[in-house]
Amino acid sequence: MSTAKKSNKKRITTNTLHEMKQEGEKIAMLTAYDFSFSTIIDSAGIDVILVGDSASNVIHGHETTLPITLDQMIDHACAVVRGAKRCLVVVDMPFGCYQGDEQNALKSAIRIMKESGGHAIKMEGGRHIADSIKRIVNAGIPVMGHLGLTPQSIYQFGTYAVRAKEELEAQILIEDAKLLQEAGCFALVLEKIPSNLAKQVSESLEIPTIGIGAGPHCDGQVLVTHDMLGINKEFSPKFLRRYASLHDIMTDAISRYIEDIKNQDFPTQEESY
Ligand code: KIV
Repeated sequence: MSTAKKSNKKRITTNTLHEMKQEGEKIAMLTAYDFSFSTIIDSAGIDVILVGDSASNVIHGHETTLPITLDQMIDHACAVVRGAKRCLVVVDMPFGCYQGDEQNALKSAIRIMKESGGHAIKMEGGRHIADSIKRIVNAGIPVMGHLGLTPQSIYQFGTYAVRAKEELEAQILIEDAKLLQEAGCFALVLEKIPSNLAKQVSESLEIPTIGIGAGPHCDGQVLVTHDMLGINKEFSPKFLRRYASLHDIMTDAISRYIEDIKNQDFPTQEESY
């Protein structure tokens, strides 16, 4: 008999997200990169976990998301999938594994799905990657799009400032959003764009939009878990709401542990065999 525990809660799928948009229920998404966080976030009732390439920053300590590799993303995704019993797990395609051509993009997407057990992938960009998205969707792999501030293009933007404030860029974004829907994306992340533009895009699409720094009118919201839990203290953009101050809580616990060892207060007789 298998000892594996099976949750009796129904798994969230891309169809569930579509129904949530139709019914006006907001979608909650957070990032995770390992088993422990995935278990906690999933048990708390999240709808979607994103194995974000923000792992490059918050886990690996890089300045940008560019250095993380496909192998590293698959490793993170494997651990997250083991902890996620109910939510949909979406895995970011990292920089360099899909920008080349459609074949290259499909090969990378298949590696993620086969090796990690994730349920969908996410790709940054608009019209230039629409053909790759079609190819991947036709292979049976659900794709989440990502427009607005796309951190893999940071050296082209030169800044992490709000995107699409000007009419021309806003118009291109609206067109790209439609193209991504037509290409078969099941949802779309909108990052750091004006609230009114996110509203217009969300209302014009059938697929759900998930915002980060894109205001309240998106069909869902996503934050980087390490940011919203206050594990990172330095990063504090206007759109970030901190739900805990784990940096301070952890620092205090670790300091007390060190002190107890130095003072020979730990372990006591009761904590020994
Ligand atoms: O990598 C990531 O965490 C993301 C979210 C910020 C949307 O792409």
